[in-house]
Amino acid sequence: MHDDISEVLFSADAIAGAVERIGAKVAEDYADRRLLVVGILSGCFPFVADLARAINVHVEVDFMAVSSYGGGTKSSGVVRTLKDLNTSIDGREVLLVEDIIDTGLTLHYIIENLRTRNPASLEVCTLLDKAEARAKKIDIKYSGFECPNAFVVGYGLDYDGLYRNLPYIGVLKPEVYA
Ligand code: PRP
Repeated sequence: MHDDISEVLFSADAIAGAVERIGAKVAEDYADRRLLVVGILSGCFPFVADLARAINVHVEVDFMAVSSYGGGTKSSGVVRTLKDLNTSIDGREVLLVEDIIDTGLTLHYIIENLRTRNPASLEVCTLLDKAEARAKKIDIKYSGFECPNAFVVGYGLDYDGLYRNLPYIGVLKPEVYA
């Protein structure tokens, strides 16, 4: 375990199990529909890479990047599009994929924006659901784990750009960001 981590919440094995479970369900649900997975960068990158490979039906993958947190630890509510989709989603079956839903502000903005583009369907998948912190209601179709209201990093989740490459998800020691 890295010195800056106080506790491992979800091990690499536990994450792999959740990815397999979600991937199998998504494959079943979209067996006869052509799915477009939309990852919300940057935190989604390991999850999208693993999840896409756990879905054993045809799947296209695209990404969006938005900024919401800056360098701090609290959601600002200000969301800015940094990179838009490459693909038109008019008439498409879209599955948004996030590493974590916290306040829900980021995804609320993205969903409002994407709905105006007339997708056939728009569903949400997140590895971590930090429900206690929610400010905007989000309907989550696929969820990996309930996440306690702690500052978590790893498997895509960062603090100040670091820790994304940890293979597990853990709690960051408060002295690191205090
Ligand atoms: C994280 C995460 C979500 C968002 C969730 O992204 O990937 O997009 O915060 O928080 P919310 O529900 O309170 O809006 P972040 O803005 O840290 O960017 P990153 O993915 O590049 O790390």
